[in-house]
Amino acid sequence: MKAFPAHINLNDRPVLIIGGGAEALAKARLMLASGADLALIAATFAPETEAELEGRARLIVRKPVAADIESAVLAFIADTPAEEARRWAEIARMAGVLLNVVDQPELCDFTTPSIVDRGRVTVSISTAGAAPVLGKRLRADIEALLPPRLGALADFADRYRETVKAKIAPAERRNFWEDFFDGPIAAQLLAGDEAGAHEAMLALVNHPDTEEKAEEKTGAVHIVGAGPGDPDLLTIKALRLLQRADVILYDRLVSDEILSLARRDAERFYVGKAKSNHAVPQEEIEARLIEFARQGKTVVRLKGGDPFVFGRGGEELEALRNASIPVFVCPGVTAATGCAAAANMALTHRDHAQAVTFVTGHAKGEADPALDWSALAALKNTLVVYMGVAKAETIAEKLIEHGRERDTPVAVIENGTRGNQKIVKGALGYLPRLIDAGEIKGPALLVIGEVAALADGDTLIDIIARQRAAA
Ligand SMILES: C[S@@+](CC[C@H](N)C(=O)[O-])C[C@H]1O[C@@H](n2cnc3c(N)ncnc32)[C@H](O)[C@@H]1O
Repeated sequence: MKAFPAHINLNDRPVLIIGGGAEALAKARLMLASGADLALIAATFAPETEAELEGRARLIVRKPVAADIESAVLAFIADTPAEEARRWAEIARMAGVLLNVVDQPELCDFTTPSIVDRGRVTVSISTAGAAPVLGKRLRADIEALLPPRLGALADFADRYRETVKAKIAPAERRNFWEDFFDGPIAAQLLAGDEAGAHEAMLALVNHPDTEEKAEEKTGAVHIVGAGPGDPDLLTIKALRLLQRADVILYDRLVSDEILSLARRDAERFYVGKAKSNHAVPQEEIEARLIEFARQGKTVVRLKGGDPFVFGRGGEELEALRNASIPVFVCPGVTAATGCAAAANMALTHRDHAQAVTFVTGHAKGEADPALDWSALAALKNTLVVYMGVAKAETIAEKLIEHGRERDTPVAVIENGTRGNQKIVKGALGYLPRLIDAGEIKGPALLVIGEVAALADGDTLIDIIARQRAAA
């Protein structure tokens, strides 16, 4: 270890910054965040420093003297030439005051770390002044991993510390807190339901029969959207949940790259469904979710796109609620918005469409989709069809029959946002031919409407020309 990390309580304690420019302002922000009683001394102050610190710190306009530094707990030298900074370093050392000289690590007693700030919970990253940019990168990585409401969770635990001490036997206390931080009350709080978390916590601490509790211990289920495939489109929250999960039940459309981001020792179960080939019936998926949660596990139900867009997430939510399992929903980027971005096609480009409608082209068995064709044809806006490849011919025929023009632009996006993405585009009148020539198998979206003309992708002529060249 090159430098020892210590978290110093600076609340209302005197901190001095010598300097009045941009460097001084940056350090002042840090010190004000830690509650210090802050003074800055400089012959002149930059207008921005003055404007931002007015009323929040004492700004003293004069040349600093040795006595200024002697009364500080910590001191900073900023915006000061090297020679003068060296002189101040000597004065500080003689006075026994810890000093930081901006950008001159050799003169520093301490360096300021990169900080992940979650209120009571702070993580500091130091490279002992060697590589601040590396420190900032690590900070960004850790920021992504830690829930934003972690500070609130620490406050909550602090609030119940004495009650838990009074109600739970010393030998059981550690287990109690372990279960608490892994369990549904913490999840509820992190999800923003503070009132519900207090209610549940009061119930828990007022029934401290820990043997009984162990048997009753319930985990939680998170229904999580994995997005359309590109792992970069996973939300930060989804990533965090994947890294905390004990068990993951995932669908066919969840890509391997996304699964590889999950906690290494999490149990994984494929419960995906290929069309007409239900790998695991829906009721059984719900039963498994309930069973794992009742074993006290943190379960992630990982679904392609957004769980509430043609994803049966609503049914799972209902089943879990009926079984009194704590359940939380984390949205994802749905295929329509992911694919539109991948194709550079704005779904509601204001020159072409005032609305967008999402429909499913799938119906039970071999039946045609039961859609209100005249309403859809009359809208003349953007229509996005999920699961529509198999019934593309019927969809095109019905829309034309009900008044949509044959030359309405269409785009078909297969495996949107993934490495094997394919886009073909043309007109509604020859949609089946386009799908056939493009060898589209799915998963794919049909986008019908003027905006489809904006999509990147191959036209029928491009496809035929390529096939001829290859022959
Ligand atoms: C059962 S639905 C699930 C939709 C998902 N919940 C969502 O919000 O995107 C599956 C259909 O979504 C569409 N889909 C999902 N991911 C896709 C992708 N990467 N590219 C194109 N279409 C996709 C396809 O139409 C596929 O048949």
